[in-house]
Amino acid sequence: MSDFQNVKACVFDAYGTLFDIHAPTTAIADELGEKAQSLSEMWRAKQLQYTWLRSLMGKYTDFWQITGDGLDYALAAHNIDNPDIRQRLMDLYLTLDAYPDAIATLKLLKEADNATGILSNGSPDMLDAAVQKSGLAPLLDEVLSVQDVGIFKPSSKVYQLAVDRMGVARDEICFVSANAWDVAGAADFGFQVAHLNRFGQPAERLPGTPKAEMKSLSDLPPLLK
Ligand code: LAC
Repeated sequence: MSDFQNVKACVFDAYGTLFDIHAPTTAIADELGEKAQSLSEMWRAKQLQYTWLRSLMGKYTDFWQITGDGLDYALAAHNIDNPDIRQRLMDLYLTLDAYPDAIATLKLLKEADNATGILSNGSPDMLDAAVQKSGLAPLLDEVLSVQDVGIFKPSSKVYQLAVDRMGVARDEICFVSANAWDVAGAADFGFQVAHLNRFGQPAERLPGTPKAEMKSLSDLPPLLK
């Protein structure tokens, strides 16, 4: 029997979990050459650091601004001074593709009458663009942005937003994230959490333990039966 019990809603992290955050640099990898992978990883790392640092500083700004700031830092660190490349990477970030396993899994969850949602640092405009472009929009009951609480994950105010808006108890939510630190935050808050370990991350040394580790989103529906 699975560890997951009495799940009434499945809530997903967006970036890195449903949407492929490395797609923009991959799309122009020929131009970026050997810097492509390192640039992409630093872009993501700085983007996340800025969410944590701004949350600590009490200086919330929307995730689109933070995504641009993280990219500017990473471009500078890689000695790339090219406004056209910056613009194209940002345009590509707005319309990220879903990972191949995302649509099939969300369809199965809807067929089994699960409520579904996204809970993300993304701004509402970014999330709207991505769910429309990827085809996920009809498979999601709620697309929730931290913008409504003005602080980023892993603040408990963010996870509480899912409880309030999905209309179920915290321990009736199955939360899925490919970000190990988000997994820790969500599990510590009291969700039943599955860590989608796309990136081969070790467990974080933080409070909060997931109930399952998955290699693909397609591992999720059987866990909920
Ligand atoms: C999000 C980031 C953490 O979508 O990936 O919230």
